[in-house]
Amino acid sequence: MIAKASSMIVDEDVRTILDDVGPALEPLHGTTLLVTGGSGFLCSYFVETVAALNALRDGPACRLIVVDNLRTGTASRLAHLVNRADIRFVQQDVSTGLDLGEPVDWIIHGASIASPTFYRRYPLETIDANVSGTRHALELARNGARGVLYLSTSEVYGDPDPACIPTPEDYRGNVSCTGPRACYDESKRLAETLCVTYHQLYGVPVKIARPFNVYGPRQRLDDRRIIPDLMACALRRQPLVLFSDGRATRAFCYVADAIRAFWRLLVSNASGEVFNVGNDEETSIRALADRLASIAPEVLGPPSPSVAYQVSDDRNYLTDNPQRRCPDLSKLRARFPWQPRVPLADGLARTLRAYAEASAKEG
Ligand SMILES: NC(=O)c1ccc[n+]([C@@H]2O[C@H](COP(=O)([O-])OP(=O)(O)OC[C@H]3O[C@@H](n4cnc5c(N)ncnc54)[C@H](O)[C@@H]3O)[C@@H](O)[C@H]2O)c1
Repeated sequence: MIAKASSMIVDEDVRTILDDVGPALEPLHGTTLLVTGGSGFLCSYFVETVAALNALRDGPACRLIVVDNLRTGTASRLAHLVNRADIRFVQQDVSTGLDLGEPVDWIIHGASIASPTFYRRYPLETIDANVSGTRHALELARNGARGVLYLSTSEVYGDPDPACIPTPEDYRGNVSCTGPRACYDESKRLAETLCVTYHQLYGVPVKIARPFNVYGPRQRLDDRRIIPDLMACALRRQPLVLFSDGRATRAFCYVADAIRAFWRLLVSNASGEVFNVGNDEETSIRALADRLASIAPEVLGPPSPSVAYQVSDDRNYLTDNPQRRCPDLSKLRARFPWQPRVPLADGLARTLRAYAEASAKEG
């Protein structure tokens, strides 16, 4: 029996993840895994995967330690798992230290302030989480960790040269070190440097993932990233508001596809290496809004919402916003039995259904 997640759609996604990577996660049994940022959107899926894995299997469980300071994460995401003997929750700021009082075998380091609206509001906390937090995670890993996964970001590429789209891992980036996004982009870049340095100096078995625009159920509706923003409009039965001309492109990756790739990286022997993780179905923001407008009536009932354009109150909303972003996934595909499986239309419908289900529960 799969441990009950907070939503039927999340349960299904966790099952899909386990069907694919369950056998590869055999080395986790009887060991301890630390997930930083575990109460956040993406990292909560690692916690769900292990909870489900432990429930499915006889024999020694994988012990989980979830560290989060709840700055952008919410305790409610994992409230259904708090009384389990195999999971320890620690409310701690990774930028001030990682004092757990016990060794860990695996680390997934995802603690960060990831939404542009929030990292611009908390720039120093963002730098501290990315730089000092990563240093603490890597120090901890020096005590014999078997595998570490660092969740970096596609933002390390900045606004790429059009000739370098789809963007491969060896593209060095076009990033402003003083612009409004620099607190996130540059500190993630330095965190990657820390990872490769710890690998070179101390043999820390760290792999770096660069996720590209991952979305799905459980992303906070008030997170201020584009998909939850548009879905919040749809749920309020209001026009889908774009704060740009809609011409910039992104390649959105459904959360279950990304998590399958992250798990494969964690237990792989690709230490010191970097991998793009995402979907290479590039779409303009305008096309994204149109697609959501056509899906919304199927999920929420008619009518279809209109798409509206407004100027954001946040004057830096579009500063240094990349015009095109799409990953080159050749390296990930060549090294692992992995493909993104969920087309954008399906992922959007699943996500909107999960939000609708959650708001119906809240009444
Ligand atoms: N979702 C995406 O598309 C995406 C894309 C690129 C990179 N990432 C990276 O993946 C990771 C997870 O992102 P997410 O989208 O789930 O964001 P999220 O905000 O939902 O999760 C981040 C979690 O980290 C926690 N946190 C922040 N600062 C902390 C600190 N100092 N100490 C302890 N915990 C702290 C937050 O409370 C939150 O629970 C981040 O590192 C982010 O940079 C995500």
